[in-house]
Amino acid sequence: MTDLTGKTALITGAARGIGRATALSLAAAGANIIATDLGTPLAGLEYQTADASALAETVARIVAAGGRAIAADTDVRDVASLRRAVATGVDTFGGLHLAVANAGIAGWPKSTWEASEAEWDRMIGVTLTGTWNTCRAVIPAILESGKGGSIVMVSSTAAFRPVATTGHYSAAKIALVGLMKSLALELAPNSIRVNTIHPGGTATVMTENDAAEHWQATTPGVSETLELPLPIHRMEPVDTANAIRFLVSEEARYVTGTSLVVDGGALLR
Ligand SMILES: NC(=O)c1ccc[n+]([C@@H]2O[C@H](COP(=O)([O-])OP(=O)(O)OC[C@H]3O[C@@H](n4cnc5c(N)ncnc54)[C@H](O)[C@@H]3O)[C@@H](O)[C@H]2O)c1
Repeated sequence: MTDLTGKTALITGAARGIGRATALSLAAAGANIIATDLGTPLAGLEYQTADASALAETVARIVAAGGRAIAADTDVRDVASLRRAVATGVDTFGGLHLAVANAGIAGWPKSTWEASEAEWDRMIGVTLTGTWNTCRAVIPAILESGKGGSIVMVSSTAAFRPVATTGHYSAAKIALVGLMKSLALELAPNSIRVNTIHPGGTATVMTENDAAEHWQATTPGVSETLELPLPIHRMEPVDTANAIRFLVSEEARYVTGTSLVVDGGALLR
């Protein structure tokens, strides 16, 4: 059984989906959790992001199970909000050791070249700049805690196998691999490991909403990519959470600079 007792983890996008499953999983292994997400939903998306009540529910579930967690309203595009979350978490729990940059959005333009500048900027802002912001907010506190650490960036199989019309998403997710590798090299002397994880199709609000379902049904090639070699339709958030728990644990103590695919075999095709 993975033991994260004495560790504190900051997770972005922790109000639901893969982020919530990760928060519950790390807390169950003994970690203190700084659960961060948007206080109010993002404007302009084709589906709704989370809000403060969903984030409070994540914390309530951890506390009900006997764990320790606090909630912090953050927008990953705003590094000051992330730094405030880190400062409050360090005050509450006495240090920071682990981070999971999970917050993300989806969007389905008619084509990659016809995406609006607003769609492009929002995707890059949340997915790529938001992950960089998360890293620059957490790394000083992880260094200050002085016990090494682990950072996981949640990318996607879309980094390796782009799907038509969502080039902004694929571009941002493959860019995380470059960001991860540079940071893994820079932080190795301090025993801080950095990895990306690449989930395949997972049952969350991001994939199960009207806009996503219309896109899947009408965009050539998309439904084929969702047919998995393993006899399942979609993964559950806990499947990625389990792999993240491994990556942040001592069991993965020499795993750094790696891209771990958890996709039911999707990339085999
Ligand atoms: N669901 C899938 O099939 C799938 C597959 C591969 C990768 N992913 C990635 O997994 C991660 C989690 O996605 P999910 O499927 O759980 O979707 P989700 O929409 O349920 O969760 C995403 C969370 O990120 C939060 N978020 C969005 N923008 C934010 C911002 N600017 N600041 C802070 N928080 C913000 C949302 O409020 C939400 O709680 C994302 O990075 C996504 O790209 C998902």
